[in-house]
Amino acid sequence: MRSSRLSLVAAVSAVLLATLAHVEAVGSCDPSTCIHPACLCPSLTPPKGMDPKTVPQFFTLTFDDAVQAPTVPVAGALMTPHTNPNGCPIKATWFAQTIYSDFALIQQWYASGNEIADHTMTHVGTPPAAEITGNRRSINAFSGIPFAKLNGFRAPFLNYSDGTFAILGQEKFLYDSSTNAVPTDAYWPYTLDHGLANDCWNGICDKPISIPGMWEIPMAAIMDSDLPTAIPHAMDVQLDASAEVVATWLRKNFDRHYNGNRSPFGIYLHPVHVGNATQLYNEFFAYARTFPDVWFVTNQQLLQWMQNPVPSSQLADQPYMKCTVPAVSKEICNGLDDAKLGSVDKGVIETCNFVAGPWSTCYGCPKAMPTPSDPVPERVVTPGQPGYRTPVPATCAMEWWDPISAQCLCTSSNCTFTDTAVPGAKNPGGSDTTGTGAPRRSAADNIAATWTGFGLAAAMAAGLSQLL
Ligand SMILES: *[C@@H]1O[C@H](CO)[C@@H](O)[C@H](O)[C@H]1NC(C)=O
Ligand SMILES: *[C@@H]1O[C@H](CO)[C@@H](O)[C@H](O)[C@H]1NC(C)=O
Ligand SMILES: *[C@@H]1O[C@H](CO)[C@@H](O)[C@H](O)[C@H]1NC(C)=O
Ligand SMILES: [Zn+2]
Repeated sequence: MRSSRLSLVAAVSAVLLATLAHVEAVGSCDPSTCIHPACLCPSLTPPKGMDPKTVPQFFTLTFDDAVQAPTVPVAGALMTPHTNPNGCPIKATWFAQTIYSDFALIQQWYASGNEIADHTMTHVGTPPAAEITGNRRSINAFSGIPFAKLNGFRAPFLNYSDGTFAILGQEKFLYDSSTNAVPTDAYWPYTLDHGLANDCWNGICDKPISIPGMWEIPMAAIMDSDLPTAIPHAMDVQLDASAEVVATWLRKNFDRHYNGNRSPFGIYLHPVHVGNATQLYNEFFAYARTFPDVWFVTNQQLLQWMQNPVPSSQLADQPYMKCTVPAVSKEICNGLDDAKLGSVDKGVIETCNFVAGPWSTCYGCPKAMPTPSDPVPERVVTPGQPGYRTPVPATCAMEWWDPISAQCLCTSSNCTFTDTAVPGAKNPGGSDTTGTGAPRRSAADNIAATWTGFGLAAAMAAGLSQLL
């Protein structure tokens, strides 16, 4: 599941470096009409003109594919040794698929403060809408995660098209993070009001993509040298050279971000490929954390900051960086060890057996495996029968919901929650009812009237002129 597209990027960048070095910045995003925080133009420098020295160095660690018994401990071994400057555990984003995942493990990953994002149901390139919306709906139904929190997307194989963006816009996703970036186009996250501005080598920046307010979080590649011929490495960089060499690349690239514009740094992994590289990454993460203003964040946390940027000295005070755990005194099926039994959801979880492998859930086994045509199949135990697990209502956060007694155990205003996001079109045969049904964007809303895209050359030149 690795992308070999990046060697092509290197070839294209080398040619453009030679020909475009003196071209002025062009591009269709005008900062006088694209007004922060609703809109933000692509830029190599931090938002609101902040001095890079004062902004946090964000570190986005992401995992892709199935969340299952063999892969969760791989992520755990990389995360548990480290804390953020505020003493909280470091956070990461998992781009999860339905197939081969365990819905209870998805729930537990989310309940411990990490992010779950959408990676399609069956892991397909340039996915049809049902693959994207179905994954969101099955995870909402069987892991209890509200639609409002399932709002990021990464294309399997990093294989996307302008059509993929149209679907994401229509389904009101908050962000995409499927695009590669090299130092010249590794922009801070930006909104897609004026189209894509990085990963332009495949012509995508000439497509009429305009999704007001939806963010793109470029995947900053690890470059293997400082030379113009450097090759970018996108995912699972540990596979591309010896441990010693990769360790050098990681530090050099991190230092370039930290001592430069501080645009978000990322490590993008498939847990199945981590293999013997746990120590390599742990040593590197520990190195990064020797700097006092380095924070490992989810993509959602990063975007919270983008919308209201504060100096690194104030980040610990932001509510979205806190790590308070809900105080629930009995063991309810919420992905947490509420009763401190040393085991999560002991005695309240159900195991469902399917040909592709068994998985667990707090929300009742379905009669069939979720698929794009029926992502939320009817439950074995139906409403009204003993043992029915009641889905999380849109007015309770999953952490406080007891699906067995159908009660929201949140009793103070501190934990009230309403899921405002939009589910995909309802599945007639299914039983998912969550969501308040706010209007979706129409296809027409996604294309601004005055759209002019970032052409390949324009976007590359914009990146270059800011660097040179
Ligand atoms: C992207 O996915 C589509 C649909 O699955 C496939 O036809 C195409 O070959 C893929 N492109 C690449 C570059 O892998
Ligand atoms: C993992 O093992 C391979 C083969 O033994 C070796 O080449 C590589 O350097 C090791 N990687 C790490 C990160 O230790
Ligand atoms: C609600 O939050 C406030 C402020 O953080 C705190 O002082 C109070 O104890 C909380 N109440 C409950 C019931 O958790
Ligand atoms: Zn994948």
